[in-house]
Amino acid sequence: QTIYLKDYTPFGWRVESVYLTFRLAASATRVLSKIRFAPNPDAPDQRFFLHGENLDPISTRIDGSETTPRAVAGGIELDVPDAPFTFEAEVEINPAANTALEGLYMSNGMYCTQCEAEGFRKITWYPDRPDVMAPFSVRIEGSEPVMLSNGNPGASGDGFADWHDPWPKPAYLFALVAGDLVTHPDSFTTASGKQVELNVWVRPGDEGKCAFGMEALKKSMAWDEATYGREYDLDVFNIVAVDDFNMGAMENKGLNIFNSSCVLASPETSTDANFERIEAIIAHEYFHNWTGNRITCRDWFQLCLKEGLTVFRDAQFTADMRSAPVKRIEDVIMLRGRQFREDNGPLAHPVRPDSFVEINNFYTATVYEKGAELIGMLKTLVGHDAYYRALDLYFDRHDGDAATIEDWLTVFEDATGRDLSQFKRWYDQAGTPRLSVTDDFKDGTYILNIKQETPATPGQTRKAPRIIPIAVGLLNPNGDEVQPTTILEMTEAEQSFTFEGLASKPVPSILRDFSAPVILEHEVSNATRAFLLAHDTDPFNRWQAGRDLALDTLLNMIRDGAVPGTDYLDALHTLIRDDTQDPAFRALALGLPSQDELAQMLHDHCETPDPQAIWEALETLKQVRAEAYQDTATRLYARYQVTEPFAPTAEQSAARSLANAAMSMLNRLDGGALAQKQFDDADNMTQQLAALSALIAADKGETAVARFYQQWRHDRLVIDKWFSAQIVHARPEDAAAIAKTLTQHPDFTMKNPNRFRATLGALAMSGAGFHHASGDGYDLLADWLIKLDPLNPQTTARMCTAFETWKRYDTDRQAKIETQLHRILAAPDLSRDTTEMITRILG
Ligand code: ARG
Ligand code: ZN
Repeated sequence: QTIYLKDYTPFGWRVESVYLTFRLAASATRVLSKIRFAPNPDAPDQRFFLHGENLDPISTRIDGSETTPRAVAGGIELDVPDAPFTFEAEVEINPAANTALEGLYMSNGMYCTQCEAEGFRKITWYPDRPDVMAPFSVRIEGSEPVMLSNGNPGASGDGFADWHDPWPKPAYLFALVAGDLVTHPDSFTTASGKQVELNVWVRPGDEGKCAFGMEALKKSMAWDEATYGREYDLDVFNIVAVDDFNMGAMENKGLNIFNSSCVLASPETSTDANFERIEAIIAHEYFHNWTGNRITCRDWFQLCLKEGLTVFRDAQFTADMRSAPVKRIEDVIMLRGRQFREDNGPLAHPVRPDSFVEINNFYTATVYEKGAELIGMLKTLVGHDAYYRALDLYFDRHDGDAATIEDWLTVFEDATGRDLSQFKRWYDQAGTPRLSVTDDFKDGTYILNIKQETPATPGQTRKAPRIIPIAVGLLNPNGDEVQPTTILEMTEAEQSFTFEGLASKPVPSILRDFSAPVILEHEVSNATRAFLLAHDTDPFNRWQAGRDLALDTLLNMIRDGAVPGTDYLDALHTLIRDDTQDPAFRALALGLPSQDELAQMLHDHCETPDPQAIWEALETLKQVRAEAYQDTATRLYARYQVTEPFAPTAEQSAARSLANAAMSMLNRLDGGALAQKQFDDADNMTQQLAALSALIAADKGETAVARFYQQWRHDRLVIDKWFSAQIVHARPEDAAAIAKTLTQHPDFTMKNPNRFRATLGALAMSGAGFHHASGDGYDLLADWLIKLDPLNPQTTARMCTAFETWKRYDTDRQAKIETQLHRILAAPDLSRDTTEMITRILG
């Protein structure tokens, strides 16, 4: 059944304290709870309902007397006094049988939890909703060497450990971990002089992969003090790595739990991209301590309140630690690849949705990444100083609250005096706005005419104009900036902006730094794009000019088999040859739009994308570039070899990414010789995996694939890379068969989400491989989604998004996908998660 934002009512009771005892046993854990409730004077309805799922009831008491609860949908109801009372219960749960990885479960013999969003109800009876906040005391009884929960440690001894978390929190932030763990310890002294004990807990054997994450944590703590004035508030901060985890990581109070792929790092086993991502996720989860935990969400419709803001904060952090332009370009590539795709298909939903069936289906690129873009736009509109003033007020006013988007916007209105009612549409209206731009120049006056339009999305046919901050600069024809970046505030459906006193018609640089998550339609000649690539002062728009040249070239190749034009080839060559330019920027400029982005682009222009033609155009362009740039690639490869010992820094990563881009060009010309040499010599995963990928793509990977496996078969995370590389770099006609063979490999298991994603997720992302005309890719994915759903609904539902673009394609592919969607929907006892996703995708 569907849940609506408009139906929100507060819970009838407040929770004053929670005491939990866990008697650990892998298949029969007992959970004893003692919870003090008091009437909530702000609530109209005092019905006493507690959530609970898959709980074996042992006993229930109210104020010490045994009572029998009434079983109702999703939990229990009880008759309770009209005054404060104590509820006690004992239940039994089975962590060993918990393959959904939600609630308390086992991962490699270790107990761990994942409670966000609604997993606590699988642990014990409780009002499992984020607006019910309480201090928790926890006793863990068991024989595990390490037993952790939230907050500060209390007494511990033979067979037990006590924890107390003084900060009231919702149940979704509860965590428990117990097992044979070792720590990489450190400490941090806060700005006010408080000493905090830090730990990264891992399984024995992984000790050597903790140092980088620990450094990232300390940098995050210092950064949040310096930038937002936020200090840590407990005596300890624990991070735990677990192998079986549905998502990336979780911000449980004082006890963050990470998918091991998002925390364990070493030069031999992690790529530069892995290091950057791990640093960002550690920061993200740490920053949630204030934006998420101290101030949480009133209900799950407000998810973007904590996620959008926290993604924005982690992006600021990465920009400060590394290169701001590189981070911005990477984020926009990701936003267009995932969020625009979502926003322009059947799963489109507002950043703050107004209804859902299963909340786990709304941990989306729209809530997270578009949610972060909204914070960025707010900051642009109010300015740097006012932004931080508003944030101070937010922390001040709402500390300890379960807040809403209205609360958040009111803070900005109060701090700045601005009316943000039009801005709020960004939270309520789904879909990516299109901006179309024309211009005029006369007598020294330059006019930009801009139209905004948002296409209909499911359930929302009409869209009102939004306020859009459009960052614009103007260059004169000799390349000087005559108008530095200024923010145009567009509020109407159509609007003109005037610049006076110009000597000649300028070249506009529009949407600098990608100042709003929109699609910009502006007819620009290739000569102008090349000019902007060479002269724009805004790094993002310089990159965008190169990207537009590449898109134009590729679309012409796909549409009518055109040969790549010299405009693009020459402009890019000039850039990559120029050693005064940042190598990371040059590597990004050499990047090409993904197959999926090209398909979306064609679809936007009312054309039916042919996945095979897209793949071939990309292959041809890469070949043509390799031939045209051979000498440059040879020189760059030598020039950007890193000779110092490996360090996961932005500088070294930049050099390696440019050298590897050169290597993959040369790989097309030398029969794989250079890649093979790099593979043989590599002492770090960035180099080794780049070489392996190049060899597979050139059909020369057989030996390297076998050797890589022999070398890394004891390292799960590296073997995940081995699975996915073979599928992602396969020829389209082979991808499904290779994926199928890999599902029969002894190391394949669908119980581990990372391995499942490395195999079936890789297939789903393989473009022409997944969309091969045979339909084998669709068939294989559907087979496995049907098998996984009874074990792990969350991961199944998430991977259904592979099919969300089906309406773009030809009738034959559409029919094949539709058949698979109906086949999944017909599976017996299909989960609520997957049922909702497939139903929405079918439309
Ligand atoms: N709050 C976590 C994060 O973004 C994500 C956890 C989501 N988990 C889930 N099962 N929905 O950092
Ligand atoms: Zn988050």
